[in-house]
Amino acid sequence: VTLERYTVATRRPYEVVSGPGALHELATLGDAPSAVLTDTTVERLHSAALGPAAGFPRLALAPGEEAKSFAMLERVLDFLLAAGLDRRARLVAFGGGVIGDLGGLAAALFLRGIEVVQCPTTLLAQVDSAVGGKTAVNLRAGKNLAGVVHQPARVLADTTLLATLSDEELRSGLGEVVKSALIGDPELFTLLERDCGPILARDPAHLGELVARCVRVKAAIVARDETETGERKLLNLGHTFAHAIEHAAGYGCIPHGIAVGVGCALAVRLSAQRGLLEDAALEPRLVRLLEQLGLPSDLATLRRRHGAALAPAELLRGMLHDKKGAQGRPRFVLPVKLGHVRWDLATEPAQVAAVLG
Ligand SMILES: NC(=O)c1ccc[n+]([C@@H]2O[C@H](COP(=O)([O-])OP(=O)(O)OC[C@H]3O[C@@H](n4cnc5c(N)ncnc54)[C@H](O)[C@@H]3O)[C@@H](O)[C@H]2O)c1
Repeated sequence: VTLERYTVATRRPYEVVSGPGALHELATLGDAPSAVLTDTTVERLHSAALGPAAGFPRLALAPGEEAKSFAMLERVLDFLLAAGLDRRARLVAFGGGVIGDLGGLAAALFLRGIEVVQCPTTLLAQVDSAVGGKTAVNLRAGKNLAGVVHQPARVLADTTLLATLSDEELRSGLGEVVKSALIGDPELFTLLERDCGPILARDPAHLGELVARCVRVKAAIVARDETETGERKLLNLGHTFAHAIEHAAGYGCIPHGIAVGVGCALAVRLSAQRGLLEDAALEPRLVRLLEQLGLPSDLATLRRRHGAALAPAELLRGMLHDKKGAQGRPRFVLPVKLGHVRWDLATEPAQVAAVLG
């Protein structure tokens, strides 16, 4: 198994290195003063994988979404200053999406901006959040409401770290993989259908291929629309539903990627109902794939597995308040066929309600 390299052609291009052992490249980054931000779980399981960077000043936060707060952001900034970092410095964000989002924002703010090297340790972060430069903390009113776009200097996605993920966190990442396949990689969709056995068994070659393919899908879109004025909205496939689901269940109850998987299934159903779906076989294929991967494919299963009420009226209310909506008509990203997705489709609430049963 070899490392995959992909250059993200943003205004300041950067390289994503993925595969087993990608973290060894930390040794090749030069001698700028550096520090590491991580969480205590990742620190306990994987700090040895940092190699020489294990000797950098390090801050390990308690794991969990609560770390994406202004209080923690201030703590990270104080830590960077205490570690003696200057403008040439670099922050290594070593963890899942929480550490990536918080570390990216801290790096963007510290001394008006230092480099961040994203070293994602969950499947979700490797296939999605570490690439693209979105950073954020949460406000009381909702997730990711305060942030900036700060592209990383490099992304090192070491797939050997995924061996220790819980089954649920692995499945959460797979929800985002399914999303990427639907958006822009029909071959990846077929690969998932064919090889779900080795994927669930975490075969390193298969995980490496998933990460590399998802990075390519996301990076190509991000390079064309870095600030999300248009096409980048495609990456929100399933997310209008997912955000409403996560909000209704209470944040932290349902892992993000699991909600995204159901959100994709609901988006395909909504697309069919609106007469936009050109490939009628896509809906049964997607439902079957989600089930094969151990992901819920409908709200009833999600309710049962997570003991969440997820009342249709509450979900609908959440979507009407979504920041991407307009005039009481939430906007959706909807698949037309495999690898072809449309965005900004304003939808009547009654049509949305019809798929929430
Ligand atoms: N910036 C973006 O574009 C973007 C995209 C999607 C999601 N996100 C954000 O990402 C966050 C979710 O990310 P996540 O799912 O990675 O969550 P996370 O960072 O909370 O990690 C999930 C759990 O897995 C543990 N963990 C991490 N690596 C591990 C490993 N190798 N082995 C064992 N356990 C490990 C963590 O300690 C944590 O308990 C959310 O805050 C979401 O808003 C951001």
